[in-house]
Amino acid sequence: KRAASAASSTQPLLPRRGYSSESAPERKVAVLGAAGGIGQPLALLMKLNPLVSSLSLYDIAGTPGVAADVSHINTRSEVAGYMGEDQLGKALEGCDLVIIPAGVPRKPGMTRDDLFNINAGIVKSLSAAIAKYCPNALVNMISNPVNSTVPIAAEVFKKAGTYDEKKLFGVTMLDVVRAKTFYAGKAKVPVEGVNVPVVGGHAGITILPLFSQATPKANLSDEDIKALTKRTQDGGTEVVEAKAGKGSATLSMAYAGAIFADACLKGLNGVPDVVECSFVQSSITELPFFASKVKLGKNGVEEVLDLGPLSDYEKQGLESLLPELKSSIEKGIKFANQG
Ligand code: NAD
Ligand code: LMR
Repeated sequence: KRAASAASSTQPLLPRRGYSSESAPERKVAVLGAAGGIGQPLALLMKLNPLVSSLSLYDIAGTPGVAADVSHINTRSEVAGYMGEDQLGKALEGCDLVIIPAGVPRKPGMTRDDLFNINAGIVKSLSAAIAKYCPNALVNMISNPVNSTVPIAAEVFKKAGTYDEKKLFGVTMLDVVRAKTFYAGKAKVPVEGVNVPVVGGHAGITILPLFSQATPKANLSDEDIKALTKRTQDGGTEVVEAKAGKGSATLSMAYAGAIFADACLKGLNGVPDVVECSFVQSSITELPFFASKVKLGKNGVEEVLDLGPLSDYEKQGLESLLPELKSSIEKGIKFANQG
């Protein structure tokens, strides 16, 4: 009994399905923006993931300390810190997966789109470096506004001739994490078994949780569903206001980012039936990018799943979100193609 508990003390905190570190292939994962509010806990969580063999931590400042700290944890991956643009190539070379939480966060009163002016340029230059140094890597885009930064990355990759729509993901997992938590609370069911797809995009009304498809089923009133929908859509703002000027969600985002990255790595490694929601190139609506359930495989997106049956309330939500999402996508495409 004692031996078993000693062994489990070094086991991963993330749920595992079918892999031990001995049998998992080598995988290099980079976090760009690794010294930030999300980057640090995300670096920690990726260090705990036995699917990672090499962890590359890049930022414009502060990475030597974060890397030294995280590197002392007795888990599988080698850790290296890279600081400043001249080390970005080394950070990216050979990567299987690049996670991008680089850029400024919101303050109270701001929308995610208010971050565009600063973050669009950051994402554009990081995407150009990815195209140059690890064109085959999967990319998990966390930097906001996701509805625009994903199209920016796609355009940069297209220009570089490296775009593979199967490999670019906007991370909307935090919306799913929130929807699960809020639904479990309202439905009074254990949160571990809850599933809620969240589709659309990642800002305000473009976030569309599909509570009609939530499992386990619960008899919630229309009022309850409306309140849950609104709370999920405003989840980011709830945190921004509570942090009162000190930024936005970092810990829950790191958790969500680590779960999504883990799903991508499982897909790469050939684990079957890995399905998560993500904002990807899509033809399930008239828009070129859309978040929905996505099956992950050895090349990234294996299949973009359709929306399934929607309630009337969700159909209305879908209609209302399309114009805003369309204009955010177009804004990103336009930005990437100027200059
Ligand atoms: P933060 O300011 O704490 O950290 C950002 C980090 O990015 C900093 O360490 C900074 O040095 C670094 N950085 C800036 N320019 C860079 C560059 N050119 N290359 C590499 N690193 C660079 O911010 P945060 O709270 O970690 O948030 C980061 C981003 O994630 C924000 O845009 C925020 O809106 C977004 N976010 C997205 C979600 C989501 O659900 N997708 C959730 C939360 C936050
Ligand atoms: C979130 O949903 O928490 C993030 O997109 C950060 C924000 O600005 O709300």
